[in-house]
Amino acid sequence: MAAKYRAVIVGCGQIGQHHARGYAGAEGIDLIAVAEPNERVRGEFQKQFEVPKGYADFQEMLEKERPDLVSICTWHLLHAPQTIAAAEYRPKAILCEKPMSVGTEGADQMIEACESRGVKLAIGHQRRFYASWTKARELAAAGAVGTPQMVTAKSGEGLLNCGTHVVDAMRYMLGDPETAWVMSAVERKTDRYEREVQIEDRCMGLIGFENGSQAFIQSDLTKEWTVENYHIQGTDGVIEVSSQTVKLLNGKSHGWEVMEPEYRDPWVEQARDLVRWVEGGNGHRGEARQARKTVEILMAIYQSARDHEVVRMPLKETGYPMDLMVAEGKLPVEEPGKYDIRVFLTFDPEERKRYNELRRQGMRPREILKTMEK
Ligand SMILES: NC(=O)c1ccc[n+]([C@@H]2O[C@H](COP(=O)([O-])OP(=O)(O)OC[C@H]3O[C@@H](n4cnc5c(N)ncnc54)[C@H](O)[C@@H]3O)[C@@H](O)[C@H]2O)c1
Repeated sequence: MAAKYRAVIVGCGQIGQHHARGYAGAEGIDLIAVAEPNERVRGEFQKQFEVPKGYADFQEMLEKERPDLVSICTWHLLHAPQTIAAAEYRPKAILCEKPMSVGTEGADQMIEACESRGVKLAIGHQRRFYASWTKARELAAAGAVGTPQMVTAKSGEGLLNCGTHVVDAMRYMLGDPETAWVMSAVERKTDRYEREVQIEDRCMGLIGFENGSQAFIQSDLTKEWTVENYHIQGTDGVIEVSSQTVKLLNGKSHGWEVMEPEYRDPWVEQARDLVRWVEGGNGHRGEARQARKTVEILMAIYQSARDHEVVRMPLKETGYPMDLMVAEGKLPVEEPGKYDIRVFLTFDPEERKRYNELRRQGMRPREILKTMEK
């Protein structure tokens, strides 16, 4: 029997593979086509996931296939234009990767393009489907640590890259409170990019929510970071969260109470939630209106550094404050030489092997790229 929903993927890179796995694991979805300009990558992907059709051009694919579900798995700067273009073909839903957009303007345009055409739009913050994170959210909401005061986490490899997951996770665990203000510090002394977007060398941001709770993110300040670990401090206890475990300490717990809720593949759950939403379910856990609030915080972290003051929401700047700060000469580069910490994704397999080997030896991306003359 034919599956109920016909899905396509735009971009056959590393994250496109996870979307393919997610669709395969969810019920009632057939991955019928992919769009990818790189012929070798497209061919290998089609073979691996048994996808019947492949296109070099995503609009040609959308025109010919008229799919129900569209995954946008390309680099950040393509998320807004490709989502807006895909909405024209009125699929039932679009699942676009994070970060939703670079600047809030793109996010607003994506929402408008989709909502005005009856297209549901979700963003790939798939970690919202970790059972442990949901357990932490439930514990915090139930008052297991009294009133949550502060959630903290360490991130790295760019605020827009991994930091988007971290900010989104902190919001999720606190029950998605509305943001009141953001205050930050940002350093950029090298000409650092991530997937073609100018980024900081390091930064930190303090986020104040309307309910009085706060979140603190530090990014690229230490080598020891992971987007998986969170610490929630409440008036009467503490919750420690990882991708699989939740630890609770409060006046009743007699030491750490360790919980391990059953792990479910977040990519499959994300795809299942899309189907539930399309079939009339109430919202998607990663829906665009939530992700837009995460984008606003990320942009406010940059804007606060740009203005040297607390940014009160709503954020007025709709562009990308990092680009604006650089153009205004506010972040002079002291070590010239543009480099992109994700450019290795474009390397052929042999080059990628060499890059990964040097990375394993502890060399920094910038030095490796210099060695490889990239
Ligand atoms: N949700 C997550 O946990 C997670 C993890 C990693 C990456 N991502 C996000 O996924 C996105 C893609 O990252 P990636 O690591 O998969 O990159 P990648 O380089 O591995 O894959 C991107 C692919 O898109 C293709 N592409 C480029 N232009 C295209 C076009 N016009 N039409 C169709 N395909 C095109 C490229 O050739 C490449 O194969 C990024 O925005 C990244 O932030 C999300």
